[in-house]
Amino acid sequence: MKNKISLSTKFAALFLLIVGMNAAAYYFMLQNIYLQELKSQAKTVVSNVESFGAWVAQNGRVWVKEGSKESFLTQELYRASCENVDDAGFVHFYSKNPALAQREFSEVVAKSSSPAKFHMTSQNVMNPVNAPDGFESMALAIVTKTGASEYSEFADGQYRFAQTIYHKASCISCHGDPAKAPEDVIKRYGSERGFGFKEGDVAGVISVSIPAKPLYMRALNFVGVKELALILVPFLIALWFVRSAVISPIKKLTETAHDVSTGKDTPIDIANIDLNTNNEVHQLTLALHRMRNSTQLAMKKMREARAEADKHRK
Ligand code: HEC
Repeated sequence: MKNKISLSTKFAALFLLIVGMNAAAYYFMLQNIYLQELKSQAKTVVSNVESFGAWVAQNGRVWVKEGSKESFLTQELYRASCENVDDAGFVHFYSKNPALAQREFSEVVAKSSSPAKFHMTSQNVMNPVNAPDGFESMALAIVTKTGASEYSEFADGQYRFAQTIYHKASCISCHGDPAKAPEDVIKRYGSERGFGFKEGDVAGVISVSIPAKPLYMRALNFVGVKELALILVPFLIALWFVRSAVISPIKKLTETAHDVSTGKDTPIDIANIDLNTNNEVHQLTLALHRMRNSTQLAMKKMREARAEADKHRK
């Protein structure tokens, strides 16, 4: 099939292709920045949670004087002569191990105005309250299978991030063999769940959720009139240049060549053209000008020759 498409159309198509590809490139770049930003927020939350756990672990466990019966792990009684004394003159203290303290921290954060929420969970939870949700189950399955240290996903207006945590030797005293676990842990949680781990096993994940609109909705905040203009105007300038420097002159030269072919005496303006020009369209104009002159000369000679021949015949 012969190609009948004009250069203008081809250039416009090329232009749209380039604009489209540029837009896609900008979109992917923005998306990378956006995801990195969300990930770094999530990682900050994870490291705060870990630091808080480390602080509790540094003290072995922390003891609090007030505690609901729900959250107690060990209840120790100290004879004391201060307030909060029971009938027998004892003050009740409740201990919080790191994971318990982290869960209570997470519950406080869940009620706070902080957009980022977190949750510590495992494929084998000691406390059913910590059971994984859909995303967390998938993240746990993936990090356990692949050995990845993190997993993240964008779904339902949420950025979800899971950081893998591993069991250390110190964790196994409570999460290893239930027969060797502290009595208070067994008493409170039973010996069914949260045990059987070895050092180095995936203990679970700290999962973080951050509400986040998909990028195409956020893009309206990033891309304004100024940004669009800076992307589009250079292409419009290129389009204008190709039309005025190439396409229009070629149209004009085509008409001239047509006139020359029909023997019409047509003017070709070369007054403003340097004979050594590097401009290809100008070179074409000069060549056409030479061709017209030689054609006219040839035609003139032909006519003269015919007139001569006619004269002789008579
Ligand atoms: C003193 C005993 C003890 C030690 C030591 C301990 N844990 Fe736990 N862990 C618990 C208890 C109790 C819970 C349940 C807390 C709650 O009620 O939310 C728990 C919960 C967890 C959870 C949340 C899921 C679940 O099972 O409910 C993870 C994950 C976890 N621990 C990991 C670890 C890691 C990693 C270490 C070592 C750095 C560790 N634990 C050390 C007692 C312990």
